[in-house]
Amino acid sequence: METKAKTAMYKFAVFGNPIEHSLSPKIHALFAQQTGVQIEYSKILAPIDGFSQVAQNFINLGANGFNITVPFKMNAFDLATKRSINAQTAGAVNTIKVDGNELIGENTDGIGLVNDLTQNLNIDLHNKVVLILGAGGATRGILLPLLQQQPAQIIIANRTASKAKQLAKDFAKFGKTCGFGLEKINGDDPVDIIINATSASLDGQMPNIAAGVANNAICYDLMYGRQTPFMDWAKANQASMVFDGLGMLVEQAAAAFKFWTDKQPETQVVIKTIRALND
Ligand code: ATR
Repeated sequence: METKAKTAMYKFAVFGNPIEHSLSPKIHALFAQQTGVQIEYSKILAPIDGFSQVAQNFINLGANGFNITVPFKMNAFDLATKRSINAQTAGAVNTIKVDGNELIGENTDGIGLVNDLTQNLNIDLHNKVVLILGAGGATRGILLPLLQQQPAQIIIANRTASKAKQLAKDFAKFGKTCGFGLEKINGDDPVDIIINATSASLDGQMPNIAAGVANNAICYDLMYGRQTPFMDWAKANQASMVFDGLGMLVEQAAAAFKFWTDKQPETQVVIKTIRALND
């Protein structure tokens, strides 16, 4: 008797508030096309105080997994029944895989940044001095994967010095970290890479930091989609290279796609397509 080959259709979504701007459905559609996997991937606007209910409804409809963006990554951490080491250290979850009764929480933001830096931009982090601006959720999310690359040191500099010091202490067991107020970074000690993980770019602002520190450094803004004040500052102050976070966006999505489907997409072609759409 002839048996009909069944093609599984994965059911995914991204939750956020706002969510309209999200590029994730487009990125995952390109991954699916490329890898021959059948998916549906929707954008779901959850009410600010109603994430877990909306997520539960989606799970009840047979979801295989979902992404979580601002402001629900901490709610997703609470919703998960198991959490990866990246999710635990980040204190936040951006990807959930539904596995029977378990909701497995992962955080692919840091892996996404590291893959963009090392694989797409050919930047070796080993033995480098990395300066991170900001000490909020975004910094917490990238610290472990960055430290796993064994940089010489990660310096966290923040407007509120106490938060940078606390984060440096929390991650000291994973590598060499130290924390300061922004005003302590004066450009006397050269750094190799500067990562802007503050939310200042969202408000069209630049963290208040000595110009000399950009000299010869590779500068990377986690924000994407427009030229940010940090990128302008880096260019004006002799940075060796300046990048936005579009590659990280695509790489964190690729890590989620792999986590769900076990298929590794080709990211560079997707980064080019998304950049062209976005310009
Ligand atoms: P996220 O989840 O995006 O990291 P967050 O946890 O609210 O958001 O953290 C925002 C970070 O950006 C903080 O480190 C904040 O500095 P403070 O801890 O001093 O508030 C930093 N930030 C925001 N606007 C800034 C600005 N204009 N200049 C410098 N740092 C800024």
